[in-house]
Amino acid sequence: MNHKTYKKLVASKLSKNFRTAAEIVEVDFPVPTSNEIVVRNLFAGVNASDVNISAGLYFVNTPLPFDLGVEAAGEIIAVGSNVRHLKVGDHVITVQVGGGYREYLAIDANQVIPVLKATPEVLTVVVSGLTASIGLEVIGEIKSGEVVLVTAAAGGTGHYAVQLAKLAGAHVIGTCRSEAKAEFLKQLGCDRVINYRTENLDEVLKKEYPNGVDLVYECVGRELFDISVDNLAVRGRLVIVGYISEYISELESVAQARIYNKLLWKSASLRGFLFSHYPEHIPQHQSRLMELFYAGKIKSAVDQTEFRGIESIVSAVEYLHSGKNCGKVIVRF
Ligand SMILES: NC(=O)c1ccc[n+]([C@@H]2O[C@H](COP(=O)([O-])OP(=O)(O)OC[C@H]3O[C@@H](n4cnc5c(N)ncnc54)[C@H](OP(=O)(O)O)[C@@H]3O)[C@@H](O)[C@H]2O)c1
Repeated sequence: MNHKTYKKLVASKLSKNFRTAAEIVEVDFPVPTSNEIVVRNLFAGVNASDVNISAGLYFVNTPLPFDLGVEAAGEIIAVGSNVRHLKVGDHVITVQVGGGYREYLAIDANQVIPVLKATPEVLTVVVSGLTASIGLEVIGEIKSGEVVLVTAAAGGTGHYAVQLAKLAGAHVIGTCRSEAKAEFLKQLGCDRVINYRTENLDEVLKKEYPNGVDLVYECVGRELFDISVDNLAVRGRLVIVGYISEYISELESVAQARIYNKLLWKSASLRGFLFSHYPEHIPQHQSRLMELFYAGKIKSAVDQTEFRGIESIVSAVEYLHSGKNCGKVIVRF
């Protein structure tokens, strides 16, 4: 090992403004303990919730500074003395809060996912794909023949939700904001694409789906959440995957009748969901997703805008929050 130090991104103050929170620091090169490996990160996934992590919403009372980033893919450059199943040169994916936005990572050798080759495409499977898989099947209880609505459908987790819902035999509606994304969603097999900037989502749902939507994979919040609730079918389920439209701003206060009024008469339900609360489902869903990915039965879409190096991460997070991305945003090291 020639490097004496490496760079990583830390939150040095708590803020939803990622640029304000984030700071690049240079630290000593990691030396693996006997059960650890050291990975040279090649790619890191950018997530909508990076701003929630930097605001301290994911952990309570974590002292500052703390490390940023979640999933990364890279090459092993050192192994601890007890590690037998991995060797220098192997490629792995890691999923660890604080493990993504750094050039090198020392991690328990049993906590990594070995892959044939670390690529941006395979990296998207482990957080974005897994969220869609567990969200639709375990939380959403998706069934063949149901009408499923996916919001932010062309995004990192949304494009997996579209494909997995199709594989489950659902009729899939996907929302997005641009014609380029709409075209991408049609190619993915989305049955009805709604560009909510040119079509009125509420009117389309009421007119074309008078019996309502059985399952909503809801990523956006605000009006898209309200419209989704209003258009739930009898026994419909809405999985609250996220509410990106309010991550950076203050939460909007709305005055309206309590929500039970909208749910009881349809036996409908809202189900909050963070994939990290369902660790028991991860191994099974992960291996199925990897099989589907390597068999070419699901596609991984990576946004084409290039971000390179630790210095580019803040811009990558801001780019995701501009709403322009199509597919998963990735940083390359
Ligand atoms: N619950 C979990 O465990 C979990 C795990 C991963 C992700 N998530 C959630 O899933 C959602 C998507 O996350 P992601 O990381 O995959 O991001 P992403 O979908 O790749 O990117 C965000 C997309 O959201 C849409 N959007 C709508 N309103 C927006 C606004 N006001 N500002 C910015 N974007 C807006 C944009 O697409 P269009 O407007 O074109 O649709 C944008 O491209 C987030 O809410 C995130 O928190 C949850």
